Amino acid sequence: MILAIETSCDDTCAAVVEPSGRRALSNVVHTQTEHSRYGGVVPEVASRAHLERMDAVVEAALAEAGASLDDIESVAVTVRPGLIGALLVGVSTAKGLAYARRLPLVPVNHLEGHVAAAYLAAPDLEPPFVALIASGGHTALYSVTEDGMSLLGETLDDAAGEALDKGARMLGLGFPGGPALSKAARGGDPTRYDFPVGLKGKADLDFSFSGLKTSLLYKLKAMDAEEVSGELAHLAAGYEAAVVEALVRKLLRAAELQDAPALVVAGGVAANGPLRRRLEAEAARLGKRLVVPPPALCTDNAAMIGAAAAATPALPFPDYLSLNARSI
Ligand code: KG4
Ligand code: ZN
Repeated sequence: MILAIETSCDDTCAAVVEPSGRRALSNVVHTQTEHSRYGGVVPEVASRAHLERMDAVVEAALAEAGASLDDIESVAVTVRPGLIGALLVGVSTAKGLAYARRLPLVPVNHLEGHVAAAYLAAPDLEPPFVALIASGGHTALYSVTEDGMSLLGETLDDAAGEALDKGARMLGLGFPGGPALSKAARGGDPTRYDFPVGLKGKADLDFSFSGLKTSLLYKLKAMDAEEVSGELAHLAAGYEAAVVEALVRKLLRAAELQDAPALVVAGGVAANGPLRRRLEAEAARLGKRLVVPPPALCTDNAAMIGAAAAATPALPFPDYLSLNARSI
């Protein structure tokens, strides 16, 4: 079995995954609450909180899987990208465990982990497919083939989740903004206000959400508080629809260019209701398979890192002692 560790941002995560990378026996996530009073993740606070929690989270993952360290054949860990101090806690823990047990260590890219969540959700899934990762930190499109993953496009400014969070904040809604915006948008008419869909006409596969943010800012500047509250559902629905439209449009273009038979969508934004419904309709229309993992596998977790490890070359004992984390 694979013991997987993930600490790239503000979740301390450990999981036990079968060697096939297609089934998780446990998936423990400790979400740090220390950051809430700062209104964002504070890197140094994250590192220290990981340090305090790491051992207990690993123990919980082993216990939940009914396993002990004797059952572990390799240790997988996120080495990039992420907050450097946060990553180092996971990498040091993984190195220590692997070295003490003379096990191989598998260095995993966090974004490849998000894509690999699809294998846990759909164990029979095989490449080729195109994958969209949309979270608070990343928005990227990948082509996945038997030879590996290649980047097709990414955001030029904010991540999709970040755009939703910032839009929600401008509208006076709570954090995280994605779910808050969805709730506020209920009953709203997404066509009442005209919001720009970033890089809509461009043939490339990149994303941009800065124009959308500015558009909301100008609309709000022209309204008083009473008008905003009366129009809130329409504004929220229009803003959310513009983000969804940009994501769907580029994902479908990528699928067409790659002639991919399947679509994978992961990352926290994949929990979005309107996005899921649009994707289901488009996939059915095009006769393509759609895999959207459940929310617990879409947000940061270690099971997805274990899943990616199954297809990543391992570093044999003790070659990983000089292995380092990377922020990008
Ligand atoms: O993957 P994630 O949990 O954390 C990282 O960013 O790594 O993604 C968080 C993002 C936030 O921006 C949040 O607003 C968004 O995912 N999100 C949603 C929904 N749930 C979370 N966005 C739209 N609709 C949702 N239901
Ligand atoms: Zn992530």
